[in-house]
Amino acid sequence: MTFDLESLPPSDRYKILASLVMPRPIAWVTTVDRNGKPNAAPYSFFNVFGANPPLVAFAPGNKAPDTPKDTAKNIRQTREFVIHLLDEPLGQVMVNTSATLPHGENELEINNIETIPSEKINVPRIADTPVALECTEHSTIEIGSNRLVLGIVHLVHVREGIMNEKGYLQEGTYFPIGRMSSPDWYTKTNDQFEIPRPD
Ligand SMILES: Cc1cc2nc3c(=O)[nH]c(=O)nc-3n(C[C@H](O)[C@H](O)[C@H](O)COP(=O)(O)O)c2cc1C
Repeated sequence: MTFDLESLPPSDRYKILASLVMPRPIAWVTTVDRNGKPNAAPYSFFNVFGANPPLVAFAPGNKAPDTPKDTAKNIRQTREFVIHLLDEPLGQVMVNTSATLPHGENELEINNIETIPSEKINVPRIADTPVALECTEHSTIEIGSNRLVLGIVHLVHVREGIMNEKGYLQEGTYFPIGRMSSPDWYTKTNDQFEIPRPD
């Protein structure tokens, strides 16, 4: 089968691409607006793109023409955000925070999600996640109705017991979930295997 994306509506393009390009990591992103009101939402058009500088990117689509989602809007206002990686027990509450709320309503409060202050930025981070990355906005690129948020990671918080001092994972301690096909599928990551590289 071949799909000519130019002849398809965006909803079909999304369905095809999001179902085939997977698993994807999930960035559970907290932000605050210019008045300090917090917001949380998941984004799976997300990855890390380099270490020098430590570069991440994720892509909120506009919710209406020229109208950014709250996460993208807040980042334009404050230029700060926290990306959390999450494991299976947090899956349902992460999905709950994807509900569309009026701007300024707080997904963290509504879902009883405990937050703690970040150290280098003024955005609270979610207490229970295994990993939290304190980030500042490098730039936001608008391409059609996509906004590609590029961020620099300044501080990495890792749950106690997951990583040793040298930055190696402790076996069996970290299994972030992955986003699978649209609309509602996810995968576990506790069935890993090794493929040695050639010398
Ligand atoms: C697992 C998951 C991944 C998602 N990934 C994206 C994404 O990459 N881009 C996007 O625009 N919306 C994505 N969404 C939908 C947003 O989370 C949703 O529109 C949310 O209401 C945005 O919240 P905000 O306006 O507070 O930023 C995803 C939802 C889920 C459950």
